[in-house]
Amino acid sequence: MADPVRTDLPTPRPAPAGPTDDRPPVCLGDFAELARAAVPPGVWDYVDGGSGAETTLAANRAALDRVAVLPRMLTGVDDPRTAATLLGREQAMPVVVAPMAYQRLLHPDGESALAAAAGAAGVPYALSTLSSTTIEEVTAAGAGPVWFQLYWLRDRALVADLLDRAHTAGCAALMVTVDVPVLGRRRRDVRNGFALPPDVTAANLPGGRDDLAHTGTPGVSAIAAHTGAVFAPALTWADLDWLRDRTPLPLLVKGILDPRDAVRAVQVGADAVVVSNHGGRQLDGAPATATVLPEVVAAVDGRAEVLLDSGIRSGTDVLRALALGATGVLLGRPMLWALAAGGRAGAETALALLATELRDALTLAGCADPAAARDLRTLTGG
Ligand SMILES: Cc1cc2nc3c(=O)[nH]c(=O)nc-3n(C[C@H](O)[C@H](O)[C@H](O)COP(=O)(O)O)c2cc1C
Repeated sequence: MADPVRTDLPTPRPAPAGPTDDRPPVCLGDFAELARAAVPPGVWDYVDGGSGAETTLAANRAALDRVAVLPRMLTGVDDPRTAATLLGREQAMPVVVAPMAYQRLLHPDGESALAAAAGAAGVPYALSTLSSTTIEEVTAAGAGPVWFQLYWLRDRALVADLLDRAHTAGCAALMVTVDVPVLGRRRRDVRNGFALPPDVTAANLPGGRDDLAHTGTPGVSAIAAHTGAVFAPALTWADLDWLRDRTPLPLLVKGILDPRDAVRAVQVGADAVVVSNHGGRQLDGAPATATVLPEVVAAVDGRAEVLLDSGIRSGTDVLRALALGATGVLLGRPMLWALAAGGRAGAETALALLATELRDALTLAGCADPAAARDLRTLTGG
């Protein structure tokens, strides 16, 4: 017998407005939907997830949303410049593509596509130690400035080798990440038993226990097992002294939250600190970066640049970070969404949207350029 027809159900609502073939993305968030549809669920979780209960991941967004920027009126600005100087070089925007591992998980062109898109947009591209394309291949494409991100390996000879390779390949800066003594426990990856597919490897670390990253075991993140085997767990400031002496490149220290650590970084000769909680992927319960940024800026007191990441999703967010005192921002997951959605062209579109949003935000706030935005006042809480 057929089921009785129910007449008490609500009429289905139309699908929410989002990007489709004939309705292109209008903001970075639109790329998330496209990316989720384009990649396997385990890859989506690897990119999207945070550590622990994902408290810090959520706090990053909530804190940015609480930052209200007081716009200035009657400043006569109608066509602001988005250009800004980072580490002594003028960029099209005060934005850097954040270092992110294994970009060929998202698209076969991986790192080469994102680096090319960043170069075309006039912003630096930070290449992860754990890239799935070698340093040399990415820099050979010659797209634009590439900054090398260093994860400190157990084997110091390998660290020295990576530094030499980055320098020889023409990388313009060195960004050492200090917030990964071990990988944060990312429950989604653990539940999924997430492992890299065979064709995605840590291309800069041949022979570096790559097998561990590819061995899928239920209840184990293979990425965590791999990094646990190859990363040095107990770095100290003395290691950073060694690094400062070992490389002539401008040095950024990424993963700073406590102003006292920011001061130490300045003392060892860092040119910039990156206020970052790794996009909520390391210590769950660490504060949102927008919350701690003003104290770090005050502690650094102009002796180094202060960049911020974790949760930046729009031109308004860039304005918020500048108004809180940052020199610039790193953009993480949205670039991976755009890469998954459309390769190099997708990433170029995303950066063009961000530039448009930043120009709008500067105009509406009465700022002639990003430097002027650093004089804006902010209110937190509404
Ligand atoms: C999939 C993924 C991989 C990442 N890999 C690295 C890495 O290899 N090195 C690093 O310093 N940070 C890494 N990060 C952290 C980013 O550089 C950045 O701090 C973070 O993504 C910023 O937050 P957002 O994604 O909310 O913009 C990774 C982040 C994601 C999402």
